[in-house]
Amino acid sequence: MDGRVLNRVAVAVVLSVGVMAGAYGVARSLVPDTTPARLAMILPGHDAVDIEPYLARADVGHGGRMVEQVCGGCHALRAGAGDSAGPNLFGVVGRPVASVPGYEYSEALHQSAAGRNWTEQTLSDWLSGPDRFAPGTRMSLAGLADPALRADIIAYLRTLRQAPD
Ligand code: HEC
Repeated sequence: MDGRVLNRVAVAVVLSVGVMAGAYGVARSLVPDTTPARLAMILPGHDAVDIEPYLARADVGHGGRMVEQVCGGCHALRAGAGDSAGPNLFGVVGRPVASVPGYEYSEALHQSAAGRNWTEQTLSDWLSGPDRFAPGTRMSLAGLADPALRADIIAYLRTLRQAPD
């Protein structure tokens, strides 16, 4: 390569970098940057989806199958059955958070929900992101993003209760 070719290559490189930088600048001015400073998803106390409307049209049968598949590996579901990796979920709807006697909950769950009950809404918030609800919880389940799926699951959990006498 002689000096002139090198020169042309150098000019080409400088030009293309210049064009790219220019295009970036123009593009940035055309498309405003709307990325929020912090992603809403990871904000504590993020806007929880109101689960009530979803519960109204929940599919209990589908919820039951999903609970067996997704939760059954870590949670017992029948009255009197012991705890496995997680606490027994029989009767969970309405009971105080972290209240199964003898089960060793994480400090995270104790602290995040002290004094609260597992209502349909708290269950929905929990299932949408356990680690957001109780940072550091031992329940290693990626959140269930679909509110309709959470509602199906919660509708089924409601059936796990002692039949009234
Ligand atoms: C990989 C195992 C695992 C899976 C899968 C799992 N859990 Fe859990 N779950 C746990 C553990 C462990 C805890 C205790 C968490 C702690 O102490 O931080 C827990 C706690 C809970 C609690 C709190 C109970 C209480 O007594 O306060 C609820 C409710 C719950 N899980 C529901 C579910 C549901 C519903 C599913 C399925 C969608 C599910 N879990 C899937 C392991 C699991």
